[in-house]
Order: sequence, then C-alpha cells, then structure tokens
Amino acid sequence: MASSTEDGEEERARRLQATLIAIRERARRLHVDVIDLYKGFLSNRKSWQEVIITAKENLEALKITLEETGDELTYLTTTNAELVGEVVRPLGKERFLVKVNEGDRLIVNCSSLVAQSKLVSGTRVTLQRRTYTIMRILPPKVNTLVHKMVYQHHHGDVSYSDLGGLNHQLEDVRDWIERPLVDPDIFERLGIKPPKGVLLYGPPGTGKTLIARAIASNIDSTFLTVVSSSLVSRYMGESSLMVREMFKYACEHQPCIIFMDEIDAIGRRRSTYGEGETSECYRVLIELLSQLDGFNELDKVKVIMATNRPDVLDPALLRPGRIDKKIEFTLPNEDARMRILKIHASGITKQGDIDYEKVVKLSEGFNGADMRNICTEAGMLALRAGHDYVVPNDFIRAVTKLGEAKKLESSAHYNAGF
Ligand SMILES: Nc1ncnc2c1ncn2[C@@H]1O[C@H](COP(=O)(O)OP(=O)(O)OP(=O)(O)O)[C@@H](O)[C@H]1O
Ligand SMILES: [Mg+2]
Repeated sequence: MASSTEDGEEERARRLQATLIAIRERARRLHVDVIDLYKGFLSNRKSWQEVIITAKENLEALKITLEETGDELTYLTTTNAELVGEVVRPLGKERFLVKVNEGDRLIVNCSSLVAQSKLVSGTRVTLQRRTYTIMRILPPKVNTLVHKMVYQHHHGDVSYSDLGGLNHQLEDVRDWIERPLVDPDIFERLGIKPPKGVLLYGPPGTGKTLIARAIASNIDSTFLTVVSSSLVSRYMGESSLMVREMFKYACEHQPCIIFMDEIDAIGRRRSTYGEGETSECYRVLIELLSQLDGFNELDKVKVIMATNRPDVLDPALLRPGRIDKKIEFTLPNEDARMRILKIHASGITKQGDIDYEKVVKLSEGFNGADMRNICTEAGMLALRAGHDYVVPNDFIRAVTKLGEAKKLESSAHYNAGF
C-alpha cells in the first residue's frame, strides 16, 4: 500500500516538473517576443523622429521663403519700383549713370534710404518707374548652374569619423585650406602667403571625393562642388563663362571653398588633347589659370582639386601659387583597411564573431571602395542564402570572390609623374 502511494507521489512530482519546464519555456519565448516587439517599436520611433526633423526643417525653410516673398511683394506694390537696372558708374554729387533694358543709359538720383557707398559699377538696383530714382540694391544675379553647385547640408552628411586611415591627408587639407579661412592673421604674422589651392591625387577609390564631402559637411563656409567634366560644354565659350561665374560667386560669398573633382577633364596637358576637343578644353584651362591668378591669396577663397590621373595634368596648373600643395592618397595599408572595413560593417546586421583580421589579410591590394564592396557583397551572399543577417563566412567568401575578380583586372602601374 505504502509503495503505491509513493509511486503516485513520484508520478505527480514528475508531471509537475514537466509543467514547470513547459511554463519556463513559454515564459522565455514570451520574453524574446516582447524584446523583439520593443526593438521594432524603437526602430519605428527612430525613423518617425527623422521624418519629423526633416519636415520641421522644410517648414522653417518655407517660412523664410514666405516671409521674403511677402516683403518683396509689399515693397513692389507700395513703391512702384518695377525697373531693374545696373549701375555703370557713380558720377558724383549723388548722381549715377545707370543701364536699363540692356542698353538705355540714364543719369539718375538715388533715394536717401539707399547706402550710396555700395553703389559701385555692376551693382544691380531697382528704379522707380516714373522718376527713375534708385530705390533699392538687389543681390547679384546668380547663374543657376553655379547655384546648383552649392553644397547643401542634409542628413547623411559625411563626418570625419567616417574616414578610415586618412588622418595625414585630413590634417593636410585642414592645415592648407581650413586654417587660412578661419585664422588668416597667423599667415600675416608669420609673413608667408596663405595657400590658394591643393590637389588631392591617388588611385581610384582611395577617398579623395569622400574627404572633400567630409570637409564640406563640417566646415562653416560656402562650398561649391563641381565635377570638372560637366564644365566642358558643347557650346562655344560657355564653359569659360561657367568657370568665371563660379569664381565670381565664390568671391561674393566668402569664405568659400571650390571643390573641382576629376580635374583631369579640363586640366590636361595641352599635348594630350584628342581630336576635336582642343579649342574648348584649352579655353577652359586658360580661364581656370587666369581665375586662379585673379584672386588674392588673402581672399577667403580656396580651391581643392582631385584627380586619379595626376600624370596628365598641365604643369602650369600645378605650379605653386595656383596649386600650393599636392596631397597623395595611397592604397590603404592593413591598419587602414581594418578601419575602413569596420566603418562600413558597423551598420550591417551580423550574427557570430566576424574574423576581421582574416578578412583584412585576404584583402591585400584593395582600395577603400573595394573594402566597402566586401560588406555589400557579404550582404548579397546572405540575401541569397535567405538570411536577414550576415554570418562570418559570408565576409570570407565575399573577400575571396572580390580578390579573384581583382586579379583579372589589368594591374596598370600607377605613376604620379611629378
Ligand atoms: N578611407 C576611406 N574610409 C572610408 N570609406 C572609404 C575610404 N576610401 C574609400 N571609401 C569608400 O569608397 C567610396 C569611393 O571613394 P571615393 O569616391 O572617395 O574615391 P576617389 O578617391 O574619389 O576615387 P576616384 O579617383 O575614382 O574618384 C567612398 O564613397 C567610400 O564609401
Ligand atoms: Mg572621386
């Protein structure tokens, strides 16, 4: 009898144990579900926050435009100032020679509300319709193409921490470009002329354009960015005009940095021109040289040029006084490759410990862009395997695959030539 009671007790204990385990398992799964839910909620919240920030910024910009347009409208409707003219030259005794309608020249007076000292030749003004009195100074006309070159700050800007292993280059660019803009007096005290421009040169994909974007996002000055090939226009003379307009805009919006990417498109040595491009390319280069000579070292206008073909550049462009410093970008060494890889891998969803050391060892001869490509390729491999995370082996397979593809590329010898 006693033994059957004991059996019953044991059985109940076993069942209770099993129930306990099942409850624990359910609790664990619930816990995981809750965490997943919370994570999803957090990421949703973050993206909504970004949307709200962008919307707020847009709203601010629209408010400013509305205010400005309102002011202008009130002004135009109350003063009848409908004519736009350009001061040819001041004549003294509060009289000015003004050009209206592309030709007519008039001698006019000036309203007492206008600062007469600002009315120099070339100033755009509005004139009252009946008396032709100068009523207001207008901002200079800006070429729309130049306006498009102005770098606009936005989300996703490049920060200095996004640059892997470019410390020396960044230091050089900041010393030669940023310092003369923020502290020009130090050059005067030292008695040396501040530099005008630098050239970034090195093989493709080594971060030249990236560093310029980082400078543009972090410096508090106007930043014009242009891909030089877009300056070479099919229409005669228009390219030189663009270069002129660009420098004019820069001088009127100091401090200003002009970044000319792929400068080899217009800065080629004259003997390397192909058939049919001689005259236009030559004209643009001459215009560029004369613009570089045109502004003073003390002006707060600096030029950054970038190329992966320094060997074809015209020596006239490279001489000090135009380009004062040449900054070399080399293929990243092991340490730099590790940094670049970690920068680009940081945003990737991973599972397991990635052997970065091994990936870096396998990536001998890769440039920065190739290092980023490893991460993209690893992601694609994961995608193909039906995962939404990348495992260590994806990285190894990606680097091996890209390494093999690179071996097939021609290994043209890279030579700066100066
Ligand atoms: N040092 C680096 N750190 C982080 N990312 C890099 C680095 N170098 C290159 N990259 C990555 O490679 C991409 C291409 O680099 P970038 O456009 O700056 O090359 P480039 O030197 O201007 O080449 P090209 O001479 O062909 O214009 C960058 O957008 C960036 O993602
Ligand atoms: Mg580039």
